[in-house]
Amino acid sequence: MWLQTLTIVASLLPFTTATNLYVASYAGTVTTLSLTETNGSLALNITHVTQDCAPNPSWLTLDQPHGVLYCLNEGLTTLNGSLSTFTTSANGMLTHVQNISTIAGPVSGVLYGSASGARGIALAHYAGAAVSTWRLADDANVTRVQNLTFTLGQPGPVTDRQDAPHEHEALTDPTGQYILVPDLGADVVRVFSYDFNNLLLTEKNPLRALSGSGPRHAAFWNPYGIACEGCTTFLYVVGELDSSVTGYRVTYLPNGGGLSFSQVWRSSTFGYLVQPVGNAPAEIHVAPSNRHLIISNRNDTSFTVPNPNANANPANTTAIPSDSLSTFTMNVDGTLSFTQLAPAYGSYPRHFTTNAAGNLVAVGLQNSGEVVILSRSVYTGSVGPVMARVEIEGQVTAVVWDEEYALGRLGV
Ligand SMILES: *[C@@H]1O[C@H](CO)[C@@H](O)[C@H](O)[C@H]1NC(C)=O
Ligand SMILES: *[C@@H]1O[C@H](CO)[C@@H](O)[C@H](O)[C@H]1NC(C)=O
Ligand SMILES: *[C@@H]1O[C@H](CO)[C@@H](O)[C@H](O)[C@H]1NC(C)=O
Ligand SMILES: *[C@@H]1O[C@H](CO)[C@@H](O)[C@H](O)[C@H]1NC(C)=O
Ligand SMILES: *[C@@H]1O[C@H](CO)[C@@H](O)[C@H](O)[C@H]1NC(C)=O
Ligand SMILES: *[C@@H]1O[C@H](CO)[C@@H](O)[C@H](O)[C@H]1NC(C)=O
Ligand SMILES: *[C@@H]1O[C@H](CO)[C@@H](O)[C@H](O)[C@H]1NC(C)=O
Ligand SMILES: *[C@@H]1O[C@H](CO)[C@@H](O)[C@H](O)[C@H]1NC(C)=O
Repeated sequence: MWLQTLTIVASLLPFTTATNLYVASYAGTVTTLSLTETNGSLALNITHVTQDCAPNPSWLTLDQPHGVLYCLNEGLTTLNGSLSTFTTSANGMLTHVQNISTIAGPVSGVLYGSASGARGIALAHYAGAAVSTWRLADDANVTRVQNLTFTLGQPGPVTDRQDAPHEHEALTDPTGQYILVPDLGADVVRVFSYDFNNLLLTEKNPLRALSGSGPRHAAFWNPYGIACEGCTTFLYVVGELDSSVTGYRVTYLPNGGGLSFSQVWRSSTFGYLVQPVGNAPAEIHVAPSNRHLIISNRNDTSFTVPNPNANANPANTTAIPSDSLSTFTMNVDGTLSFTQLAPAYGSYPRHFTTNAAGNLVAVGLQNSGEVVILSRSVYTGSVGPVMARVEIEGQVTAVVWDEEYALGRLGV
């Protein structure tokens, strides 16, 4: 009986595979895209749009095992930001659960806690110079835990951006014991331990970055693929204000006492290439193969690429300027070897994520108002060309993959 049902259901499915992606835009929308493959060609189609994280969605954190999407509204012109929660579904529909007011300017969030115990989300607030934490529940309804607000004794050297602390990202270390928060205004990466029961954060000694570098985002790397306190661990920090990538060897202090950092690498995000004036790198990720580091560059206009409108109007041969993605190969001593500068196929790649296989990169192009899917060689790390693209209303701020439904639609 079970097998019969399975056969009937399977025979009704079209001969395509589907993967969902969620896209945040400052225009107020969270859009679900369906990425489909038919006979070797990819297509990106909009399947659902919600305004329930309006007015200014800035970040998405997916809790895939629980089927919950957390969306941050930066509130660019309002006193407060907000945290909106949605439940996900295979057909791309997002069901809104909650919109809860926060300190101003949330721009990044990370899940923390333990799978079997208390679980939370920690948010970095750029405008509010704060970190806030929230307890998660199975019904996707969050409750407030803590606010931590920071002050700056002296403004930093880049006066228009370093007038105050600006928390720009929240990430966990590979063991899940610490939360790190790069602060673009204060030139530090803050380090917090937390209580596994009540989820309260305790601040530890921060990583002090180069003055004026403007730490924006960061990524951990375990070269041997194993995470533990004694395991070889590196941290790479992107400096938005001086267009740098700095690598540190990370040492765990005893008894949950925090982390210490010693610098092993520092270069421009362009490696040995000449760094364009005005470049402002944004996102940094270690690719799933664990061998390459990818960084997005904004406002560098390193490339000229074919006009994306040419298919609709082949007579229009205007080329467009494009920003870029840098790929470095990571060496086991923490140093980096510059590997490739690839076009991002548009302007301001504020955010990107790879799929689980690491052979596709979804890029959120803020100023182009587009998401592009780029191919990627898992072996060499080289990125490009464009496999699919779709226009999104307004400025794109984040794009995340939800591959849970790609293969498991029948629950087998
Ligand atoms: C699939 O793609 C191949 C190679 O491009 C082509 O020869 C073939 O006709 C296509 N099949 C279908 C059903 O479109
Ligand atoms: C999906 O998007 C492709 C272009 O990427 C387009 O050719 C196709 O018609 C769209 N399909 C649907 C069902 O809208
Ligand atoms: C969510 O809450 C924020 C902060 O209170 C508010 O500004 C925003 O309009 C709300 N969004 C929606 C869609 O209700
Ligand atoms: C909203 O912002 C104001 C001004 O920063 C602050 O006093 C208030 O506590 C915030 N509300 C919430 C719920 O964070
Ligand atoms: C969410 O939790 C709050 C208490 O923090 C409660 O007032 C509210 O009714 C809950 N909402 C849902 C949808 O469960
Ligand atoms: C956090 O801040 C908000 C607004 O500033 C306030 O409403 C809330 O009570 C604070 N929560 C804690 C735990 O301090
Ligand atoms: C972009 O770069 C140019 C120099 O090429 C610079 O004048 C401009 O201020 C930069 N824009 C931003 C928003 O950083
Ligand atoms: C040609 O393409 C450019 C770049 O995408 C676009 O800005 C312009 O509006 C297009 N012109 C026409 C006539 O379609």
